[in-house]
Amino acid sequence: MDIVREPQKWQQILRDYRRKGDSIGIVPTMGALHAGHRSLLQRAREENQIAAASIFVNPSQFDNREDLTRYPVTLDEDISLLEKVGTDLLFAPQAESMYPDNYTYAVTEKALSREYCGKYRPGHFEGVLTIVLKLLLISHASRMYMGEKDWQQYVLVKRMAEAFLIDTEIVSCPTVREPSGLALSSRNGRLTSDELEKAPLLHQLLSSDRTIEAIKEELETAGFRVEYVEIFNDPELGSRLLAAAYLGKVRLIDNAKRTQGPL
Ligand code: PAF
Repeated sequence: MDIVREPQKWQQILRDYRRKGDSIGIVPTMGALHAGHRSLLQRAREENQIAAASIFVNPSQFDNREDLTRYPVTLDEDISLLEKVGTDLLFAPQAESMYPDNYTYAVTEKALSREYCGKYRPGHFEGVLTIVLKLLLISHASRMYMGEKDWQQYVLVKRMAEAFLIDTEIVSCPTVREPSGLALSSRNGRLTSDELEKAPLLHQLLSSDRTIEAIKEELETAGFRVEYVEIFNDPELGSRLLAAAYLGKVRLIDNAKRTQGPL
């Protein structure tokens, strides 16, 4: 696997592949890769001639400095996972090269990014959309693969690609879960053993037919600090219950399709 650190070099290599007629699938990540990322990478490998990944802990999307400094960095393990699934190319830039403007330019979305997680994490989606737009512009990818766990992020990126007429298909992939139902996340490693036992309740309740109020109540009783549980409705993408809740210091998010039952 080739590791590229310079955006200009990345852009040139991938442009050359596209000109030759190769399809490119990219998985954008912040590293600390787990089985959820592995499933995205496998899909990119299966569906494209060139399977690419990026690892960049994007400072502009962290609304909380402590969260950024605590974000796990496991580059050696990440590289071996990427190699095992047959990734061809890894982009691992430095912050200065991705933000030559010192983040004076940013992507603003004025609706969905202010709802759900956006209400509680000011600036988060602006940072996500800005870095993803940069990755889309320099990667010439046929497809970008994103996990359904971050449902709001997936929808915002998909709509941004449509809004800016970017010729990359944004592909959503099912959430990978522990046997308990807990969605895999790089943050799960920070849960205590007691919190790890409680954490699967979030998914169990979201996929039940309980009302939103009942879900919130059960979570609070179990020791979660609920940020929100809200319905997402879209004529194209259907209905989902989206939630964010803290267990101790760890913020968990999850979502589930909602097809029936009172809200
Ligand atoms: O989901 C993530 O890991 C990040 O938000 C992403 C899409 C890589 C952008 O930094």
